[in-house]
Amino acid sequence: LGNGLATTPQMGWNSWNFFKCDINETVIKETADALIATGLANLGYNYVNIDDCWSEPTRDLEGKMVPDSKAFPSGIKALADYVHSKGLKLGIYSDAGAFTCQVRPGSLFHESDDAKLFASWGVDYLKYDNCFNLGIDPETRYPPMRDALNATGRTIFYSLCEWGVHDPALWAGKVGNSWRTTDDINDSWASMTTIADLNDKWAAFAGPGGWNDPDMLEVGNGGMSYHEYRAHFSIWALMKAPLLIGCDVRSMTQETFEILSNEEVIAVNQDPLGVQGRKVYSYGPDGCYQVWAGPLSGQRLAVVLWNRGSKPAIITAKWASLGIESSTSVSIKDLWKHKYVTDNKVASFSVRVDPHACEMYIFSPLAVARSAS
Ligand code: DGJ
Repeated sequence: LGNGLATTPQMGWNSWNFFKCDINETVIKETADALIATGLANLGYNYVNIDDCWSEPTRDLEGKMVPDSKAFPSGIKALADYVHSKGLKLGIYSDAGAFTCQVRPGSLFHESDDAKLFASWGVDYLKYDNCFNLGIDPETRYPPMRDALNATGRTIFYSLCEWGVHDPALWAGKVGNSWRTTDDINDSWASMTTIADLNDKWAAFAGPGGWNDPDMLEVGNGGMSYHEYRAHFSIWALMKAPLLIGCDVRSMTQETFEILSNEEVIAVNQDPLGVQGRKVYSYGPDGCYQVWAGPLSGQRLAVVLWNRGSKPAIITAKWASLGIESSTSVSIKDLWKHKYVTDNKVASFSVRVDPHACEMYIFSPLAVARSAS
Protein backbone atom coordinates (compact mmCIF):
# COMPACT_ATOMS: atom_id res chain seq x y z
CA LEU A 1 0.00 0.00 0.00
CA GLY A 2 2.96 2.25 0.71
CA ASN A 3 1.33 5.14 2.59
CA GLY A 4 3.89 4.83 5.38
CA LEU A 5 1.26 4.11 8.04
CA ALA A 6 0.65 1.09 10.27
CA THR A 7 4.29 0.30 11.01
CA THR A 8 2.67 -1.06 14.19
CA PRO A 9 -1.03 -1.94 14.61
CA GLN A 10 -3.36 1.04 14.90
CA MET A 11 -4.62 2.06 18.34
CA GLY A 12 -7.60 4.18 19.29
CA TRP A 13 -11.33 4.04 19.84
CA ASN A 14 -14.35 3.31 17.62
CA SER A 15 -18.00 4.13 18.28
CA TRP A 16 -19.66 0.95 16.98
CA ASN A 17 -19.34 -1.77 19.65
CA PHE A 18 -20.91 0.34 22.40
CA PHE A 19 -22.89 3.15 20.75
CA LYS A 20 -24.05 1.53 17.48
CA CYS A 21 -26.10 4.29 15.73
CA ASP A 22 -26.59 6.33 18.87
CA ILE A 23 -23.73 8.74 18.14
CA ASN A 24 -23.34 12.50 17.97
CA GLU A 25 -20.62 15.13 18.04
CA THR A 26 -20.82 15.53 21.81
CA VAL A 27 -20.08 11.84 22.36
CA ILE A 28 -17.12 12.02 19.98
CA LYS A 29 -15.70 15.16 21.60
CA GLU A 30 -16.19 13.84 25.12
CA THR A 31 -14.50 10.61 24.08
CA ALA A 32 -11.50 12.56 22.79
CA ASP A 33 -11.44 14.47 26.08
CA ALA A 34 -11.63 11.23 28.06
CA LEU A 35 -8.80 9.61 26.08
CA ILE A 36 -6.63 12.57 27.09
CA ALA A 37 -7.83 12.87 30.69
CA THR A 38 -7.39 9.17 31.48
CA GLY A 39 -3.92 9.02 29.94
CA LEU A 40 -5.00 6.46 27.34
CA ALA A 41 -4.01 8.83 24.52
CA ASN A 42 -0.49 8.99 25.92
CA LEU A 43 -0.32 5.22 25.84
CA GLY A 44 -0.91 5.28 22.08
CA TYR A 45 -4.70 5.29 21.65
CA ASN A 46 -4.72 8.18 19.20
CA TYR A 47 -7.43 7.46 16.59
CA VAL A 48 -10.99 8.57 17.42
CA ASN A 49 -13.08 6.69 14.86
CA ILE A 50 -16.69 7.38 13.96
CA ASP A 51 -18.46 4.27 12.61
CA ASP A 52 -21.74 3.87 10.73
CA CYS A 53 -24.66 6.34 11.03
CA TRP A 54 -22.77 9.65 10.89
CA SER A 55 -24.34 10.65 7.57
CA GLU A 56 -27.76 11.69 6.31
CA PRO A 57 -29.58 8.91 4.42
CA THR A 58 -29.14 10.68 1.08
CA ARG A 59 -26.47 12.72 -0.69
CA ASP A 60 -27.07 16.44 -1.35
CA LEU A 61 -27.97 17.87 -4.75
CA GLU A 62 -24.29 18.02 -5.73
CA GLY A 63 -23.93 14.36 -4.82
CA LYS A 64 -21.95 14.98 -1.65
CA MET A 65 -22.36 13.02 1.55
CA VAL A 66 -23.82 15.17 4.33
CA PRO A 67 -23.29 14.67 8.07
CA ASP A 68 -26.52 13.95 9.96
CA SER A 69 -27.79 17.42 10.80
CA LYS A 70 -29.20 16.48 14.21
CA ALA A 71 -26.25 14.40 15.43
CA PHE A 72 -23.41 16.36 13.80
CA PRO A 73 -24.77 19.91 13.34
CA SER A 74 -21.26 21.42 13.34
CA GLY A 75 -20.06 19.06 10.62
CA ILE A 76 -17.13 16.68 10.44
CA LYS A 77 -14.51 19.34 9.69
CA ALA A 78 -15.23 21.07 12.98
CA LEU A 79 -14.97 17.72 14.76
CA ALA A 80 -11.67 16.93 13.06
CA ASP A 81 -10.35 20.35 14.09
CA TYR A 82 -11.41 19.66 17.68
CA VAL A 83 -9.83 16.20 17.76
CA HIS A 84 -6.64 17.54 16.12
CA SER A 85 -6.43 20.34 18.67
CA LYS A 86 -6.12 17.60 21.31
CA GLY A 87 -3.27 15.94 19.38
CA LEU A 88 -5.53 13.07 18.27
CA LYS A 89 -6.64 11.85 14.84
CA LEU A 90 -10.14 11.48 13.39
CA GLY A 91 -11.45 8.40 11.63
CA ILE A 92 -14.58 8.09 9.52
CA TYR A 93 -16.51 5.25 7.95
CA SER A 94 -17.98 4.38 4.58
CA ASP A 95 -18.85 1.30 2.57
CA ALA A 96 -17.63 -0.38 -0.61
CA GLY A 97 -21.22 -0.76 -1.74
CA ALA A 98 -24.33 1.19 -2.64
CA PHE A 99 -25.20 1.76 1.04
CA THR A 100 -23.64 1.28 4.46
CA CYS A 101 -24.96 -1.54 6.63
CA GLN A 102 -27.31 0.97 8.31
CA VAL A 103 -28.45 2.19 4.89
CA ARG A 104 -26.56 5.47 4.63
CA PRO A 105 -24.91 6.32 1.27
CA GLY A 106 -22.04 4.02 0.28
CA SER A 107 -18.94 5.03 -1.68
CA LEU A 108 -18.94 2.43 -4.46
CA PHE A 109 -18.51 4.35 -7.74
CA HIS A 110 -18.09 7.59 -5.71
CA GLU A 111 -14.60 6.76 -4.47
CA SER A 112 -12.78 9.80 -5.79
CA ASP A 113 -15.39 12.40 -4.73
CA ASP A 114 -15.84 10.88 -1.28
CA ALA A 115 -12.10 10.53 -0.65
CA LYS A 116 -11.64 14.21 -1.60
CA LEU A 117 -14.46 15.21 0.73
CA PHE A 118 -13.00 13.22 3.64
CA ALA A 119 -9.55 14.71 2.98
CA SER A 120 -11.03 18.24 2.84
CA TRP A 121 -12.53 17.65 6.28
CA GLY A 122 -9.14 16.60 7.66
CA VAL A 123 -10.01 12.94 8.14
CA ASP A 124 -7.05 10.67 9.03
CA TYR A 125 -8.57 7.19 8.83
CA LEU A 126 -11.23 5.40 6.79
CA LYS A 127 -12.96 2.19 7.82
CA TYR A 128 -14.53 0.76 4.66
CA ASP A 129 -17.40 -1.71 5.13
CA ASN A 130 -18.87 -4.37 2.86
CA CYS A 131 -22.70 -4.08 2.83
CA PHE A 132 -24.86 -3.71 -0.30
CA ASN A 133 -21.89 -4.69 -2.44
CA LEU A 134 -23.92 -5.64 -5.55
CA GLY A 135 -22.22 -9.02 -5.62
CA ILE A 136 -18.98 -7.52 -6.93
CA ASP A 137 -15.96 -9.21 -5.40
CA PRO A 138 -13.96 -7.30 -2.76
CA GLU A 139 -10.73 -7.53 -4.73
CA THR A 140 -12.44 -5.32 -7.32
CA ARG A 141 -14.25 -2.96 -4.92
CA TYR A 142 -11.51 -2.16 -2.37
CA PRO A 143 -8.53 -0.98 -4.50
CA PRO A 144 -10.34 2.03 -6.08
CA MET A 145 -10.74 3.63 -2.65
CA ARG A 146 -7.03 3.01 -1.90
CA ASP A 147 -6.15 4.87 -5.10
CA ALA A 148 -8.67 7.62 -4.38
CA LEU A 149 -7.31 8.15 -0.85
CA ASN A 150 -3.71 8.21 -2.11
CA ALA A 151 -4.68 10.71 -4.81
CA THR A 152 -5.98 13.22 -2.24
CA GLY A 153 -2.45 13.98 -1.08
CA ARG A 154 -3.56 13.53 2.54
CA THR A 155 -2.17 10.52 4.40
CA ILE A 156 -5.21 8.46 5.39
CA PHE A 157 -5.13 5.11 7.17
CA TYR A 158 -7.15 2.59 5.13
CA SER A 159 -8.95 -0.08 7.19
CA LEU A 160 -10.70 -2.77 5.13
CA CYS A 161 -13.84 -4.19 6.70
CA GLU A 162 -14.68 -6.98 4.25
CA TRP A 163 -15.51 -9.47 7.07
CA GLY A 164 -12.88 -11.98 5.95
CA VAL A 165 -14.66 -12.53 2.62
CA HIS A 166 -12.31 -13.87 -0.11
CA ASP A 167 -9.46 -14.58 2.35
CA PRO A 168 -8.24 -10.96 2.44
CA ALA A 169 -4.89 -11.84 4.03
CA LEU A 170 -3.97 -13.26 0.61
CA TRP A 171 -4.54 -10.01 -1.31
CA ALA A 172 -5.20 -7.09 1.03
CA GLY A 173 -1.57 -6.38 1.95
CA LYS A 174 -1.32 -4.35 -1.25
CA VAL A 175 -4.68 -2.66 -0.66
CA GLY A 176 -5.11 -1.65 2.99
CA ASN A 177 -3.33 -1.04 6.28
CA SER A 178 -5.49 -3.69 7.95
CA TRP A 179 -8.15 -6.13 6.87
CA ARG A 180 -10.86 -7.90 8.82
CA THR A 181 -10.29 -11.64 8.97
CA THR A 182 -13.73 -12.51 10.38
CA ASP A 183 -17.34 -11.58 10.74
CA ASP A 184 -18.35 -9.18 13.55
CA ILE A 185 -17.27 -9.78 17.13
CA ASN A 186 -19.88 -9.64 19.88
CA ASP A 187 -19.43 -9.14 23.59
CA SER A 188 -19.22 -12.82 24.58
CA TRP A 189 -16.59 -15.44 25.42
CA ALA A 190 -17.81 -17.68 22.58
CA SER A 191 -17.44 -14.97 19.96
CA MET A 192 -14.07 -13.75 21.24
CA THR A 193 -12.47 -17.23 21.36
CA THR A 194 -13.86 -18.24 17.95
CA ILE A 195 -12.51 -15.07 16.37
CA ALA A 196 -9.09 -15.52 18.00
CA ASP A 197 -8.82 -18.99 16.43
CA LEU A 198 -9.98 -17.81 13.00
CA ASN A 199 -7.55 -14.90 12.97
CA ASP A 200 -4.67 -17.16 14.02
CA LYS A 201 -4.81 -18.94 10.68
CA TRP A 202 -3.56 -15.85 8.83
CA ALA A 203 -0.64 -14.96 11.11
CA ALA A 204 2.00 -15.32 8.40
CA PHE A 205 0.45 -12.50 6.34
CA ALA A 206 0.61 -9.74 8.98
CA GLY A 207 3.50 -7.35 9.33
CA PRO A 208 4.54 -3.68 9.39
CA GLY A 209 2.27 -1.81 6.97
CA GLY A 210 -0.65 -4.29 7.03
CA TRP A 211 -2.30 -6.22 9.86
CA ASN A 212 -4.93 -8.92 10.32
CA ASP A 213 -7.96 -7.37 12.04
CA PRO A 214 -9.99 -9.75 14.26
CA ASP A 215 -12.36 -6.81 14.97
CA MET A 216 -12.51 -4.23 17.72
CA LEU A 217 -12.20 -4.69 21.46
CA GLU A 218 -15.22 -5.47 23.62
CA VAL A 219 -13.29 -4.88 26.87
CA GLY A 220 -15.53 -2.96 29.27
CA ASN A 221 -18.87 -3.59 27.57
CA GLY A 222 -20.15 -5.95 30.27
CA GLY A 223 -20.65 -9.30 28.53
CA MET A 224 -17.46 -10.97 29.77
CA SER A 225 -15.77 -11.34 33.15
CA TYR A 226 -12.65 -9.47 34.20
CA HIS A 227 -10.47 -12.50 33.40
CA GLU A 228 -12.14 -13.05 30.03
CA TYR A 229 -11.54 -9.42 29.07
CA ARG A 230 -7.94 -9.69 30.25
CA ALA A 231 -7.50 -12.73 27.98
CA HIS A 232 -9.23 -10.88 25.10
CA PHE A 233 -6.80 -7.97 25.47
CA SER A 234 -3.72 -10.17 25.95
CA ILE A 235 -4.44 -12.29 22.88
CA TRP A 236 -5.36 -9.29 20.68
CA ALA A 237 -2.09 -7.63 21.72
CA LEU A 238 -0.09 -10.80 21.01
CA MET A 239 -1.81 -11.28 17.63
CA LYS A 240 -0.77 -7.76 16.61
CA ALA A 241 -4.44 -6.89 16.20
CA PRO A 242 -5.55 -3.27 15.99
CA LEU A 243 -6.23 -2.11 19.57
CA LEU A 244 -9.43 -0.17 19.03
CA ILE A 245 -11.30 0.37 22.29
CA GLY A 246 -15.01 -0.33 21.91
CA CYS A 247 -16.46 0.77 25.25
CA ASP A 248 -17.62 4.12 26.61
CA VAL A 249 -14.30 5.51 27.88
CA ARG A 250 -16.12 8.40 29.58
CA SER A 251 -17.47 6.04 32.21
CA MET A 252 -15.26 2.94 32.20
CA THR A 253 -14.58 1.10 35.44
CA GLN A 254 -11.19 0.93 37.15
CA GLU A 255 -10.90 -2.73 36.06
CA THR A 256 -11.52 -1.83 32.42
CA PHE A 257 -8.96 0.95 32.63
CA GLU A 258 -6.43 -1.38 34.26
CA ILE A 259 -6.74 -3.79 31.33
CA LEU A 260 -6.66 -1.23 28.52
CA SER A 261 -3.79 0.73 30.08
CA ASN A 262 -1.36 -2.15 30.66
CA GLU A 263 1.75 -0.60 29.13
CA GLU A 264 3.71 -3.84 28.99
CA VAL A 265 0.96 -5.62 27.09
CA ILE A 266 0.59 -2.63 24.75
CA ALA A 267 4.36 -2.73 24.17
CA VAL A 268 4.05 -6.34 22.97
CA ASN A 269 1.42 -5.21 20.44
CA GLN A 270 3.52 -2.24 19.33
CA ASP A 271 6.86 -4.10 19.24
CA PRO A 272 8.87 -2.96 16.18
CA LEU A 273 9.52 -6.51 14.99
CA GLY A 274 5.82 -6.75 14.07
CA VAL A 275 5.42 -10.53 14.02
CA GLN A 276 1.95 -11.87 14.86
CA GLY A 277 2.00 -14.29 17.81
CA ARG A 278 0.35 -17.68 17.26
CA LYS A 279 -1.25 -20.55 19.09
CA VAL A 280 1.86 -22.72 19.36
CA TYR A 281 0.21 -25.74 20.92
CA SER A 282 -2.78 -26.82 22.95
CA TYR A 283 -3.49 -29.90 25.02
CA GLY A 284 -5.87 -31.23 27.67
CA PRO A 285 -9.66 -31.66 27.34
CA ASP A 286 -10.77 -30.15 23.99
CA GLY A 287 -7.32 -28.57 23.71
CA CYS A 288 -8.33 -26.04 26.33
CA TYR A 289 -4.84 -25.58 27.81
CA GLN A 290 -3.20 -23.30 25.29
CA VAL A 291 0.24 -21.81 24.77
CA TRP A 292 0.34 -18.80 22.44
CA ALA A 293 3.61 -17.06 21.66
CA GLY A 294 5.43 -14.80 19.24
CA PRO A 295 8.88 -13.30 18.82
CA LEU A 296 9.70 -9.75 19.93
CA SER A 297 12.63 -7.49 19.16
CA GLY A 298 15.77 -8.10 21.20
CA GLN A 299 15.57 -11.91 20.94
CA ARG A 300 12.67 -11.97 23.38
CA LEU A 301 9.46 -13.94 23.24
CA ALA A 302 5.92 -12.94 24.30
CA VAL A 303 4.11 -15.93 25.81
CA VAL A 304 0.46 -16.29 26.83
CA LEU A 305 -0.71 -19.31 28.85
CA TRP A 306 -4.47 -19.47 28.37
CA ASN A 307 -6.92 -21.78 30.14
CA ARG A 308 -10.02 -22.05 27.96
CA GLY A 309 -11.47 -24.81 30.14
CA SER A 310 -13.91 -24.52 33.01
CA LYS A 311 -11.58 -25.63 35.86
CA PRO A 312 -8.31 -24.24 37.17
CA ALA A 313 -5.33 -25.90 35.49
CA ILE A 314 -1.55 -26.02 35.53
CA ILE A 315 -0.33 -24.98 32.09
CA THR A 316 3.25 -25.64 30.99
CA ALA A 317 5.34 -23.76 28.45
CA LYS A 318 8.01 -26.09 27.10
CA TRP A 319 11.17 -24.61 25.63
CA ALA A 320 11.32 -27.40 23.05
CA SER A 321 7.94 -26.34 21.64
CA LEU A 322 8.78 -22.64 21.75
CA GLY A 323 11.97 -22.96 19.74
CA ILE A 324 14.28 -22.34 22.71
CA GLU A 325 17.18 -24.71 23.50
CA SER A 326 16.08 -26.80 26.49
CA SER A 327 19.24 -25.95 28.44
CA THR A 328 18.72 -22.19 28.07
CA SER A 329 18.04 -20.25 31.24
CA VAL A 330 15.12 -17.88 30.74
CA SER A 331 14.25 -14.79 32.73
CA ILE A 332 10.46 -14.33 32.85
CA LYS A 333 8.55 -11.08 33.35
CA ASP A 334 4.89 -11.36 34.32
CA LEU A 335 3.04 -8.64 32.38
CA TRP A 336 -0.06 -8.61 34.57
CA LYS A 337 1.69 -8.77 37.97
CA HIS A 338 4.40 -6.44 36.63
CA LYS A 339 7.22 -8.38 38.22
CA TYR A 340 9.78 -11.03 37.41
CA VAL A 341 9.11 -14.67 38.21
CA THR A 342 11.52 -15.22 41.11
CA ASP A 343 13.95 -17.71 39.59
CA ASN A 344 15.08 -18.07 36.01
CA LYS A 345 13.71 -21.25 34.46
CA VAL A 346 15.29 -24.00 32.37
CA ALA A 347 13.48 -26.35 29.97
CA SER A 348 9.92 -25.43 30.99
CA PHE A 349 7.74 -23.12 33.05
CA SER A 350 4.41 -24.06 34.64
CA VAL A 351 1.77 -21.93 36.25
CA ARG A 352 -1.74 -22.37 37.64
CA VAL A 353 -4.30 -20.53 35.53
CA ASP A 354 -7.92 -19.90 36.50
CA PRO A 355 -10.78 -20.89 34.16
CA HIS A 356 -11.02 -18.55 31.14
CA ALA A 357 -8.03 -16.59 32.44
CA CYS A 358 -4.59 -16.22 30.93
CA GLU A 359 -1.18 -15.19 32.16
CA MET A 360 1.15 -13.23 29.90
CA TYR A 361 4.93 -13.06 30.01
CA ILE A 362 8.03 -11.88 28.25
CA PHE A 363 10.68 -14.59 28.08
CA SER A 364 14.27 -13.36 27.80
CA PRO A 365 16.51 -16.34 27.09
CA LEU A 366 19.82 -15.65 28.84
CA ALA A 367 22.82 -17.88 28.31
CA VAL A 368 22.92 -21.57 27.53
CA ALA A 369 23.34 -23.20 30.93
CA ARG A 370 26.52 -25.25 31.25
CA SER A 371 25.88 -28.94 31.29
CA ALA A 372 27.05 -30.55 34.50
CA SER A 373 30.50 -32.09 34.08
C1 DGJ B 1 -20.43 -4.22 9.97
C2 DGJ B 1 -19.03 -4.03 10.51
O1 DGJ B 1 -18.35 -5.26 10.50
C3 DGJ B 1 -19.13 -3.46 11.92
O2 DGJ B 1 -17.84 -3.35 12.49
C4 DGJ B 1 -19.82 -2.12 11.88
O3 DGJ B 1 -19.03 -1.22 11.15
C5 DGJ B 1 -21.21 -2.26 11.25
N1 DGJ B 1 -21.14 -2.95 9.98
C6 DGJ B 1 -21.85 -0.92 11.05
O4 DGJ B 1 -23.05 -1.00 10.40
